[in-house]
Amino acid sequence: MKKTQSALSLIGCRKSVRHFTGATVSGEDLLEILKAGMAAPSAVDMQPWEFICVTERDTLDKLCDALPYAKMLSKAGAAIVVCCDPLQAHHQFKEYAVIDSTLASQNILLAAEALGLGALWTAAYPYPERMDPVRRILHIPEGIIPLNVIPIGHPTGEDVPKDKFKQNKIHTEKW
Ligand SMILES: Cc1cc2nc3c(=O)[nH]c(=O)nc-3n(C[C@H](O)[C@H](O)[C@H](O)COP(=O)(O)O)c2cc1C
Repeated sequence: MKKTQSALSLIGCRKSVRHFTGATVSGEDLLEILKAGMAAPSAVDMQPWEFICVTERDTLDKLCDALPYAKMLSKAGAAIVVCCDPLQAHHQFKEYAVIDSTLASQNILLAAEALGLGALWTAAYPYPERMDPVRRILHIPEGIIPLNVIPIGHPTGEDVPKDKFKQNKIHTEKW
């Protein structure tokens, strides 16, 4: 199989995984996933991201309690919290910090899928009532924005990819 075909098939297989077995995720896998995150493109290559790798059960449970739409953390083996720092971004624009860190997040989701793990984006930004507890629980310094919490774990197999292709979303020069 050509490399491009396997990359496309990985993209097609990625889905938000909300059902985990409860098994832990190896440090080796987490490092691979973090490397993929850092391989993302960023404006002027500023890389305005920071990653918090959470593996302690107690901390995963605290995040689970604090985030209304991240209850799957109770069975996740780990989580990566992708943060962005506007001061490290091109022109120190918050928009670039968020865009660049979003690209890193997508790489993280794809890398988890490639390793046979499951993951999903759960929102922290832009909700103050979600960012505040994440900041407090993880001792995030002032000025750093927690963008998301990405639970990672071994999938039970219940979650499947959706077919989201819509011809009517594609336009020509005449819209
Ligand atoms: C910015 C953003 C915020 C999201 N927040 C949550 C969340 O808080 N909880 C959750 O269960 N899923 C969340 N999701 C996952 C979406 O619900 C999911 O990507 C969407 O339903 C499409 O499904 P798929 O990822 O399986 O293709 C979020 C996704 C994005 C991109």
